[in-house]
Amino acid sequence: MHTITLIPGDGIGPEITKAVQAIFTAAQVPVQWEEQNAGQTTFDQSGELIPQALLDSLEKNRVALKGPITTPVGKGFRSINITLRQKYDLYQNVRPAKTTEGIASRYTGVNLVLFRENTEGLYSGLEVYDERLGISDSFNRITVEGSRKICRAAFAYAAKHGRKKVTLAHKANILKMAGTLMLNACKEAALEFPQIVFEDKIIDNMCMQLVNKPEQFDVVVTTNLFGDILSDLCAGLVGGLGVVAGANIGDDMAIFEAVHGSAPDIAGQGKANPTALLRSALMMLHHLGEHTHADRIEAALDATLKTPEKCTGDLGGKASTMEFAQAIIDKLA
Ligand code: NAI
Ligand code: MG
Repeated sequence: MHTITLIPGDGIGPEITKAVQAIFTAAQVPVQWEEQNAGQTTFDQSGELIPQALLDSLEKNRVALKGPITTPVGKGFRSINITLRQKYDLYQNVRPAKTTEGIASRYTGVNLVLFRENTEGLYSGLEVYDERLGISDSFNRITVEGSRKICRAAFAYAAKHGRKKVTLAHKANILKMAGTLMLNACKEAALEFPQIVFEDKIIDNMCMQLVNKPEQFDVVVTTNLFGDILSDLCAGLVGGLGVVAGANIGDDMAIFEAVHGSAPDIAGQGKANPTALLRSALMMLHHLGEHTHADRIEAALDATLKTPEKCTGDLGGKASTMEFAQAIIDKLA
């Protein structure tokens, strides 16, 4: 039995979390949940954004499933997601994007995995503002060590999963230092994995190529801000934010969460698609070595997706979040 820290989060978070829990219970997955929340709801109730009890639970269990969290906009509120990623050095943000039968998309044959550096770059939190001059500076901190770790992780993943190519998306032509550092780190990692093809593309061209011919990409690695933007772009290639999974992985802790946010526009209406969080939870099961359970639930999900009327509105169906979950449960073999 694995004990997992469960962070329901804000907005649609609790709705999609309940759906995933129901599917896991029905499939008799050997997981027990330790629920600890963070975010806007927690802040409104307790005055704390990230309670110590959550940190204790994470440090004990080392694996978590997390719903999206609303970070209040404005001074003094640091993003909880970024805080957790930096505090526990969850330096890999892994986001697979794959076209799936039954999920409408303009494309076919997309099957890529994005590796986003998750602790540095423009999300380092190093920002200053000089009120007198009206100038803000946001530091794009990139370290040799951080670049090596994420590039190596992307190649190691490619080698382990039988993938053929790693593409670095960067802006080394303009960001002479930060960009070049990442490019060099990738070239170094490529030497260790001669069986994997390495190529690099400038980020603007990369966006065009992804929209134009996404099936050419296999594993993509990039810095934090570019990765944040590219991952929503990739979601758009394969059916939208309701269906793409993600994982924040460090050397000794992993937090699994969907790419999407708390979707305040549909929160509380039972409309949210639980697929993205479910797929994140399946990545978690693979991480725990529970491959058979993951494959069984994935097969039930894939079978359900082939009947769009049993899915949520974003996939063209009429089902509520829990009706969709029930349809997946009904397909469990
Ligand atoms: P969002 O991802 O919450 O929503 C964008 C659009 O996609 C909305 O129209 C929403 O209805 C739709 N959508 C998202 N997830 C869906 C699902 N599961 N099923 C159906 N439709 C779905 O992005 P937005 O509106 O920019 O951000 C809202 C809040 O979420 C912000 O406070 C932001 O900071 C936070 N956020 C949190 C993240 C996290 O906790 N990892 C990641 C991204 C944003
Ligand atoms: Mg994002």
